[in-house]
Amino acid sequence: MAIRTAGIFLLGFAAIGAEPKMAVPRYAAGDELIRPEGYREWIFAGSSIGMGYKDGDPPANAGFHHIYIQPEAYRQYVKTGTFPDKTILVMEKVTAGTNASINKRGRFGAAFEGIEASVKDERFPEKWRYYDFIGQGGPPLKQAKAFPKDRCWNCHFEHAAVDNVFVQFYPVLKEARK
Ligand code: HEC
Repeated sequence: MAIRTAGIFLLGFAAIGAEPKMAVPRYAAGDELIRPEGYREWIFAGSSIGMGYKDGDPPANAGFHHIYIQPEAYRQYVKTGTFPDKTILVMEKVTAGTNASINKRGRFGAAFEGIEASVKDERFPEKWRYYDFIGQGGPPLKQAKAFPKDRCWNCHFEHAAVDNVFVQFYPVLKEARK
């Protein structure tokens, strides 16, 4: 019994000592970003459904967006109000389901569609780069090229509340600095 207790104690200790390092962006040739992994164990920053940037109703098939950030980048943001170099925000896209099982109203996350990501990398003059890993009609992409600035960066730069990140729509980040 004493031996077993000691064993458990040591295991616990080893687990504390082995705090994982921040997941950093990994690149393939030509600075293509390799699809981030493990983000479901990161901090969940917020979600949205059917957001649009022009007047009018959302499309009937609007899905959910779930936003995740590395725990270490989150903690830096809480402390300093800025996102550190190598911050990754993953936006997971999930279709919206209704009228299934016992559900009669409202919408729930149904099928996983894939991910997009924004990455802060101070190696690049524009710092933030934007990627889409949803293979249109095919399997998800293992790596992706950054979009040109006018496709993604401009809108994030002009309208996002903090350093290209839409903190105004992520309650976890918004609350963190109050
Ligand atoms: C017209 C404005 C606009 C454009 C253009 C735009 N976004 Fe966004 N993006 C948003 C808004 C608003 C959000 C906040 C939440 C959401 O959409 O669910 C967001 C959130 C994100 C996020 C989550 C993290 C963050 O940075 O806040 C990612 C990742 C993202 N967009 C990727 C892209 C990619 C990739 C493109 C280009 C193909 C793009 N965006 C173009 C407005 C824009």
